[in-house]
Amino acid sequence: MGYNVAIDGPSGAGKSTIAKLVAKEKGYIYVDTGAMYRALAVYFLEKGIAPEDRAGIIAAAGEAEVSIRYEEGVQQVYLNGENISSKLRAEEVGNMASKTSIIPEVRERLLELQRSLAREKDVIMDGRDIGTNILPGADVKIYLTASVETRARRRYEELIEKGAACDYQEIAKDIQERDDRDMNREVAPLKQAADAVLVDSSDMTIAEVVEKIAGLCR
Ligand code: DC
Repeated sequence: MGYNVAIDGPSGAGKSTIAKLVAKEKGYIYVDTGAMYRALAVYFLEKGIAPEDRAGIIAAAGEAEVSIRYEEGVQQVYLNGENISSKLRAEEVGNMASKTSIIPEVRERLLELQRSLAREKDVIMDGRDIGTNILPGADVKIYLTASVETRARRRYEELIEKGAACDYQEIAKDIQERDDRDMNREVAPLKQAADAVLVDSSDMTIAEVVEKIAGLCR
């Protein structure tokens, strides 16, 4: 059994940024479970299946083989043998992942992959249900959050930095909708595990959050 750190929280709270830095400092492997849901989403989009077509999504999930490899410590995601890592960050992929991750069969498809990584390696794993459902016995559990306004502002600044056209109100609405879906689904909704430490990063720098979380780890 590896040493397991679980980080859950809403979209845009900075989980992946923080988890990567803690992983580096502590020598853990960073496992991004959102990327696995996104990989399935890429498949659904490529097949042209609507997220509302439950039977179609379930059948397609059965055909999609997601696997993970680490190349120089960086997670690479393979879909049916092809490295699709560069396709995962698109907005439509995130939306498709959020809409289809409510389906139990989709979640079931990724469960063993996530657990097996945690069994084999020292990991810091981020997602929505890691502390509550995937790794209930994790050594450390963090619930990392920030206000909707803070998350929207960070996302807005990130997009402006990249030179992308964007609208703050639109981004805030998107974040709110994704929160609602992630927190209110029937299976494995996003919530703080009873034994998770709450970290609200709204008024913290990245360095402060990393220090706080690394301080809780072995
Ligand atoms: O963290 P992310 O934005 O890459 O995740 C994309 C979607 O995948 C998110 O809106 C909900 C879903 N997800 C999930 O249901 N459970 C996880 N452990 C990780 C992600």
